[in-house]
Amino acid sequence: MNTAAGADAVIEAAGLGKVYRVSRGVFAPPMPLRAVDGVDFRLARGCTLAVVGESGCGKTTLARLASLIERPSAGSLRLDGEEASGASDRRIRALRRKVQIVFQDPYGSLNPRHKVGTILAEPLAINTNLGAAERRDAVRAMMARVGLRPEHYERYPHMFSGGQRQRIAIARALMLRPDLVVADEPVSALDVSIQAQVLNLLMDLQREFGLAYVFISHALAVVRHIADEVMVMYLGRVAEHGPKEEVFARPRHPYTRALLASTPFVDPERRRRREIVKGEPPSPLNPPLGCAFHTRCPHATERCAIERPEPRPLGETLVACHHAEAIG
Ligand SMILES: Nc1ncnc2c1ncn2[C@@H]1O[C@H](COP(=O)(O)OP(=O)(O)O)[C@@H](O)[C@H]1O
Ligand SMILES: [Mg+2]
Repeated sequence: MNTAAGADAVIEAAGLGKVYRVSRGVFAPPMPLRAVDGVDFRLARGCTLAVVGESGCGKTTLARLASLIERPSAGSLRLDGEEASGASDRRIRALRRKVQIVFQDPYGSLNPRHKVGTILAEPLAINTNLGAAERRDAVRAMMARVGLRPEHYERYPHMFSGGQRQRIAIARALMLRPDLVVADEPVSALDVSIQAQVLNLLMDLQREFGLAYVFISHALAVVRHIADEVMVMYLGRVAEHGPKEEVFARPRHPYTRALLASTPFVDPERRRRREIVKGEPPSPLNPPLGCAFHTRCPHATERCAIERPEPRPLGETLVACHHAEAIG
C-alpha cells in the first residue's frame, strides 16, 4: 500500500491488543473483554487511515491506544519509530505531544468555564516556553486557520454551535503541531450539512501541516473522501484493510460488503444484490468461535465456525475471510 511507506511511518501498530477486565459481581471472577485484538497497521505522514465498524467493535479503544491515553495489553505501538508500549511515563508524556485526539462529542470535550482563547493557549502554556503575547499570537493564527473569527477569542464554548465547537477542538489539537491526529467520530454528532464543512477543514489542515489522521467512523460514507486506507473492524479484530479505492470498489469481506450495501450512496445495481447484516454484533465478552462474523454471515460454512481466519493478502487488500475468493 502506498501509504504504508517504510521508515517514515508516523504510527505503526503490530499485534496491538487491549483487554479490559469486566466485573460480574462480588463472587464471580472478572471476565476478560478483548476490546482490541491483534491489530496491525502503519501510517505515513500526511495520510489518513479510516477505521470503520459498528458500535462496540473497538474503535474508541483503538483511538485511546493510538493517542497514548491508555496502555496496550499486548503488541507493539511505535510513534515516529519510538516504541510506546512499555515506555516509561516520562517518555509517554514526551510522545504525547506528537499525537493529539479529537473526540466525538464537541459539547463534552471543551472546558465550559474557559474562554476559547484560554482553551487554545493551554497546551502552549503547559508544554512550551512561549510568553503570553506569543501564545496569544499563535492562538489567533490557529483560530483564523480553522475558520473562527477574532472576536471568538473571548467567548465561552456554550456560545457556539456543534460545528464551531469541533473547529475549536481541532484548533486545540493542532496547537502543538502534532504529527498525528486521532479523530474519534469527529463529525458523527454534527448535522449532515455541517459534516462536509468539518471534513473539508480537516483535509485542508492535513495538506497544510502534513498531518497523518487516524479517522474513526461507524459509517463508511463519511470516510469516502477523506481516507487513503480503510480498515474495517469487527469485534476488536481487522476484517478487511486496504486502499480506499479497492475497499469501496471491490469489498472482499462479507461484512464490508454488508456495510457498503447499507450505505445510501452506492449504485442501484449493487443495492439490489445487497447483503444486509442482520441483528446486533455478538457480545465481545463471549465472542463466537472461529470467524467472529460467522453468526451473521450469509456465506458461512462449517469451517468458519471452527477456524478463525487471519487477515491475508488478496490483491492490494488484507481480508480475514476463508471464502473471500469464492464470493468475490
Ligand atoms: N473501560 C472499559 N472497561 C470495560 N469495557 C470497555 C471499556 N471501554 C470499552 N469497553 C468495551 O470494549 C468494547 C469496545 O468498545 P469501544 O472501543 O468503545 O467500541 P466503539 O468505539 O467501536 O463503539 C465494547 O464492548 C465496550 O463495552
Ligand atoms: Mg466509539
